[in-house]
Amino acid sequence: MRDKPLDLTKEQRVIKSPRQIQELAFKLRSQGDSIGLVPTMGALHEGHLSLVRAAREENKAVIVSVFVNPGQFGPHEDFNSYPRNLEQDTQLALRAGADLIFAPAAADIYPDGYQNFVAPGPLAQGLCGAKRPGHFRGVCTVVLKLLQLTAASRAYFGQKDAQQLRVIQQMAKDFDLEAQIKGLPIVREADGLALSSRNIYLNEEERQQSTILFQSLRLAQDLIAAGQRETNTISRQIKQHINQAPLARLDYLEIVDWADLQPLKQLTGQILIALAVYFGATRLIDNIILDA
Ligand code: PAF
Repeated sequence: MRDKPLDLTKEQRVIKSPRQIQELAFKLRSQGDSIGLVPTMGALHEGHLSLVRAAREENKAVIVSVFVNPGQFGPHEDFNSYPRNLEQDTQLALRAGADLIFAPAAADIYPDGYQNFVAPGPLAQGLCGAKRPGHFRGVCTVVLKLLQLTAASRAYFGQKDAQQLRVIQQMAKDFDLEAQIKGLPIVREADGLALSSRNIYLNEEERQQSTILFQSLRLAQDLIAAGQRETNTISRQIKQHINQAPLARLDYLEIVDWADLQPLKQLTGQILIALAVYFGATRLIDNIILDA
């Protein structure tokens, strides 16, 4: 049943202090209210808003965190240029049904003398983990902190970051976290491009060619539906297809088991086909989860 948003003043809706959000969250939980957390790095789009709406349906209170986490960016990645617009994000999140925005400063999340980081296991090693060393260490550390600070009953993640979802589910299981980790479907543009805050980096030509990610996943889906089970054959066809987009540079293509993210030779059970493709300096990811 959908709960009404909390009765808060405008000033109470954007909280920057970790202690303040924690006090409020603990108060809500002690009076029996459930809390849904939507962790984001801001630059909110329909994909994020679909998570906010889902959280609104299932919880008494909905918190959207907006924090561009320095801990998950590599030294040559886009931390500095990552789009930031807290005012717009606040409006979008509140309109979609959030009660509160938690937007801490980096110095509050990682104060001087900060020492402890989560060391994720094998699920974090392949796919994006292999290409972005330290990325999931940063993601897990901040997500663990956000779950703690917001006392979340449920936390909502998009399946576009499929490996992230699996890694966080495993962390929640291994650390006996109370929060239920929920994964929601990818939201796409009409032409199939998965929504991402990084899509704004694409120029017109790159944007046109970026549909190659979704098209190649559809091609794989069609091959599997027609009975193809050989990973090598499917991979070869996907790569040939991606090569048709002159501006696309494949970073990786992996066909793995959805449970353990280990590569498969023959497809069976629930599988994840995941790929990362560069257009210039912009790295896009997409995936499909299928029953083979
Ligand atoms: O998916 C993201 O936007 C980030 O990795 C997350 C989960 C908010 C952690 O910083």
